[in-house]
Amino acid sequence: MIEKTANLSNLFKEKAAAAASSAELEQLRIEFLGKKGYVAELMNDLRNIPNEQKKEAGQLINEVKKFIESEIQNRNREILKAEELRLVEQAESYDESMPVDINSGSYHPITLVQREVEEIFKTMGFAVEDYYEITDDYNCFEALNIPKHHPARDMQDTYYLSTGQLLKTHTSAAQNTILRKYAKNLEQGNPIRAIFPGRCFRNEKIDACHENTFFQMEGIMVDKDISISNLIYFMKTMLSEVFQQDITVRLRPGFFPFVEPGFELDIQCTICKGKGCPSCKDSGWLELCPCGMIHPNVLTAAGIDPEKYIGFAFGLGMTRLAMMTYGVKDIRVFNSGSLKALSQFTEKSFTVPEESKEA
Ligand code: PHE
Repeated sequence: MIEKTANLSNLFKEKAAAAASSAELEQLRIEFLGKKGYVAELMNDLRNIPNEQKKEAGQLINEVKKFIESEIQNRNREILKAEELRLVEQAESYDESMPVDINSGSYHPITLVQREVEEIFKTMGFAVEDYYEITDDYNCFEALNIPKHHPARDMQDTYYLSTGQLLKTHTSAAQNTILRKYAKNLEQGNPIRAIFPGRCFRNEKIDACHENTFFQMEGIMVDKDISISNLIYFMKTMLSEVFQQDITVRLRPGFFPFVEPGFELDIQCTICKGKGCPSCKDSGWLELCPCGMIHPNVLTAAGIDPEKYIGFAFGLGMTRLAMMTYGVKDIRVFNSGSLKALSQFTEKSFTVPEESKEA
């Protein structure tokens, strides 16, 4: 028995040296120290040896057990170190001169459309701003003249987080922050002109026309003496630039608590020129961009005097624009993560393809 115990250390040493991974080592641990392992077996054998030998044998088994435990630790360290070295060597042996297939990547269609629209706005003197996806009740609602319990909150099914924050339901959530950031422009006699594209979230039931995650691009312009005519002229010029053709627009009344008056802006169908076709569901018009004159309460919340300054805001649906641009009929393609589907989009041209469906 004593001999068997002493041999166990050697046996373990041999096997541990051959173990090539932490997983293999774990197997050995079970084999030796597990409930049915060799050490447990020796403990069982203790019962059968004469009493006077029990103490010595017991101590010996304990020593072996401790030896195996510390060997496991040592060997594990060695294994991890070797693995680390192997990874470093592998990284260092990376061959920079290896030819790469540069055509294997592609931009997401929404990125392509967004970048193109951003370029147009930049030429019109607009700053491009970024904003968080997680924000709070104040920025998403209160600062936009939507107090708590206001029925307009029901227009947007909001995802609330356990922290009390929320996922922004529209890019308008950035208005307060951006207005504050550029308020000094006004004092210096310059207008505020900014766009802020971003991902928005609403708890929508997903189907071919609805997504719970989509992209918008908000735009604001604030100055002295801005009127609805400026808004109409600006939207017409901007959209003509976006679609690369003369665009006819019309405004219908629309309700959003942060604009007064508020509008739904439609563009005349670029395919049938207003005559009616499947793309515009025979109406001759496509609903494209809610907009309006910024509500005085929104300016006040951002520290801007509504007696002195006035402005307009609009919310371009980028996901919708991308659907129109590429003739995508099912909105779910965008978030599908399917490279096969998404890599087929290239630099766009803003036309509304035949039979493209209204989202
Ligand atoms: N934020 C509004 C929405 O997502 C759109 C909007 C933006 C309306 C700016 C008016 C002005 O529904």
